[in-house]
Amino acid sequence: MNIYDNHHTRPYGVGLAYRYPVHDQALEHRDEIDLLEISTEDYIVRERRIHADPYEEKLTEALEVFPAVAHGLSLSIGTVAPLNEYYLHATKQFLEDNHLTVFSEHCAFHSVDGNDLTMFLPLPFEEASVQWIKQNYYAVRRELERPFALENVTYHFPIPRGSLSEAEFLKRLTEETDCTLLLDITNVFNNASNHCYDPIEFFETVPMDRVSQMHLAGGHKTDDGKWEDSHSRPVMEPVWPLFEEAVKRAVNCEIVILERDSRMDPFDSVLHDIRRAREIFYSIRPEKSGTGKPTDMEQGSGETFPDDPAFLELKGFQRCLMARITSAEYREFFQHNPIAACAEFGLANSEWIEKLKECDPAEMEKLANSWDYIQNDDAKIGEAYEKSEWEAWADQLAQEEAVSG
Ligand SMILES: [Fe+2]
Ligand SMILES: [Fe+2]
Repeated sequence: MNIYDNHHTRPYGVGLAYRYPVHDQALEHRDEIDLLEISTEDYIVRERRIHADPYEEKLTEALEVFPAVAHGLSLSIGTVAPLNEYYLHATKQFLEDNHLTVFSEHCAFHSVDGNDLTMFLPLPFEEASVQWIKQNYYAVRRELERPFALENVTYHFPIPRGSLSEAEFLKRLTEETDCTLLLDITNVFNNASNHCYDPIEFFETVPMDRVSQMHLAGGHKTDDGKWEDSHSRPVMEPVWPLFEEAVKRAVNCEIVILERDSRMDPFDSVLHDIRRAREIFYSIRPEKSGTGKPTDMEQGSGETFPDDPAFLELKGFQRCLMARITSAEYREFFQHNPIAACAEFGLANSEWIEKLKECDPAEMEKLANSWDYIQNDDAKIGEAYEKSEWEAWADQLAQEEAVSG
């Protein structure tokens, strides 16, 4: 039997992004949850794994009960730099060990020059980004030995002077690769509200027949009136009619996942959103349609030209943008002399320099403040992690001793 020929091969219905603290509640309500989405980070990033389910006992139980799909977070597929081979290999191993077929990642970038913002940065909606992601998509596809879905993300501000709209950008990606789309409806709502575009027009441009999965998540409005995808509240009311519209249009979408990372107690508030999503989904799609599932897509290939001048410019742009967020010194330099500051990263193209100069200053400041905050927080987390590492070792040794008698 093929190792992928199991109940994870082709999950269908409305499910939950699995978080170990609600393991028992999820199992209790198995009749209302069709599938789980497993965050691969929780099992391949040691700091997270150790706090979650170090021996994967809960995961094993959950995967026996529920069909599941996998969702990655750290790939930063849009960054013009070599992919993290270790991370990719660990992802492949995780998928194989757990016999998971369906995988998705974010169409985004967040990690540059060793600095991981852990928040998605806005991708420049340009042909150069399409071509770069195409290369990385095929590199990942080759390693994982399967096509996968790319997810639209909430971004803080659009990069100025974009030659493509976000919807056109996603469309170009589906033209250039055999990826499917994981359409996060909350992110569509957030971006449409925050950046003033019509979500229905967005649906009209994006190739909805290439949508294989959808996400729903709750967010909140920040003090400056912008929506954030905090994954900490019920799905916002205006997202529901958009979801219904999207399910009608995305005829090949077979998977819907509710994402909630915190405030999962009472679990009934999570179930409430799942029930509502099921009602909508099953009224439109009572059974599998199936023509768009990733494994049906044609095998593709991507040629690699990392030294293409367009990629070097995109890389220079990304490095400048990140340095403006992570370094107060560079920020000042850029403000004083943007041309010289860009030259430091080999960027001389005036169009890219203008884009950098015109990035929303308030949003750039917010990102810089978040970075500073994360840095302080990281120091504390580092100490706590070291302590928990020792505790985990002690725990492991005790277990091994108990087994050996
Ligand atoms: Fe996601
Ligand atoms: Fe999402």
